[in-house]
Amino acid sequence: MLQLPKVVGHRGAMAYAPENTLESFREAHRRGATWVEIDVKLTKDGVPIVMHDSSLRRTTGVDRLASEMTAAELPPSVPTFAQAIACFAELGLGCNVEIKPCEGREAETARVTVAALRAQWPATLPAPLLSSFKDASLAAAREAAPEFARALLIDEVKDDWQVRAEAVSAVGINTNGKRLTAVRAVEIRKAGYVLSVYTINDGDVARALVGMGVQCVISDAPDVILAALA
Ligand code: G3P
Ligand code: MG
Repeated sequence: MLQLPKVVGHRGAMAYAPENTLESFREAHRRGATWVEIDVKLTKDGVPIVMHDSSLRRTTGVDRLASEMTAAELPPSVPTFAQAIACFAELGLGCNVEIKPCEGREAETARVTVAALRAQWPATLPAPLLSSFKDASLAAAREAAPEFARALLIDEVKDDWQVRAEAVSAVGINTNGKRLTAVRAVEIRKAGYVLSVYTINDGDVARALVGMGVQCVISDAPDVILAALA
């Protein structure tokens, strides 16, 4: 059974620290988050790293694609997935690992991510949740390591959501909280899925979503949402 906390820090706690960095994970922890969400993709030499965009430009100023850089060429602020896991082990943080593949590397990214989890995820931490907007990544994750729970990421829930979720044996739906309707929330919960929303930074909005049946809120400011839901 997938057990998620009420609040997950988005890319660490990106309202307060540079997203997807060790500093951001420490900040999330300091502010009371017990889990963080991160984005994982591969470098040119197949090393899983924690990075949201295809390019490093926005977050590091380095105007290059992650898929065209080796791990050795990365700026120090960009953690490898292994470094992130070591940080979570130290802090006792759970993790929603979003598989965020570069174009064409959907299955490979999932396989490398779950291999790293199998090798490095500490037994002392809660089991991680894998999520992705890419059905192909979730399918590859299931094939390679069915033991890791999966959630389908959907920006706007449409009629095909359950067919897609069933096709990858997802146990959760992670969706855009600003687009979620009450009708869809009920549908998802009635079907037995764990329902999470991103990216909610307003306490009143979080409370309303929880009232609709949302079980987990992914937020840039986890402390704000924790306080609002207390
Ligand atoms: O996993 C939730 C959220 O992070 C999905 O969107 O673009 O922020 O990775 P994005
Ligand atoms: Mg993400």
